Amino acid sequence: MRKAKIAVLVSGGGTNLQAILDAQNSGVIHSGEVAAVISNHADAYALTRARKAGVEGLYISKKELKTQEAFENAIIAALEEREIDLIVLAGFMSILSERFTSRYDHRIINIHPSLIPSFCGQGFYGLRVHEAALKKGVKVTGATVHFVNEIPDGGEIIAQKAVEVLDGDTPEVLQRRVMEEAEWIILPQAVEKISAALMES
Ligand code: GAR
Repeated sequence: MRKAKIAVLVSGGGTNLQAILDAQNSGVIHSGEVAAVISNHADAYALTRARKAGVEGLYISKKELKTQEAFENAIIAALEEREIDLIVLAGFMSILSERFTSRYDHRIINIHPSLIPSFCGQGFYGLRVHEAALKKGVKVTGATVHFVNEIPDGGEIIAQKAVEVLDGDTPEVLQRRVMEEAEWIILPQAVEKISAALMES
């Protein structure tokens, strides 16, 4: 069967991208393959990870393109040119418009570092999510993989995994535990599940 062509959109370090690439190598992901990595930051380490894995890395600059529409059009052009089936947001820190998300209905997934519906939506990204969780004093947090629609972090949930919050946690320590115990596990699993489903339909 044909493999789903996957584009991973990133903004930073790309540890979730790495988890996907590793899962591809180990066979956990076998129904899809990463065809391109697209970053909105030129210096994102994720682009280096892509290069090291022999995957095409593209930098698309919102600053240079000026408007959200032009930025999204450039991403769409890159996706169409490569006939991408599935878009994975892995630490992509830019909110996509409804025009974009509706074009790829149930073909965009995102990893979020909390148990949605807690600590999600506009303004909750990266370390801020863990700062908010610690401030609230929750004893359990985790990660969620969900479909992306026009509501930030509001799409249908695909997978979740809980992670304990421990006494003395800092946002950085908690972030790392959530990545290790949840994100790097459930994101590759969800990529495989959705790739397989897309290729069957
Ligand atoms: C991850 O924790 C991811 O869940 C989060 O940013 C980090 C990116 O790390 N994403 C969001 O907060 C999206 N709202 P990475 O670049 O090492 O994968």
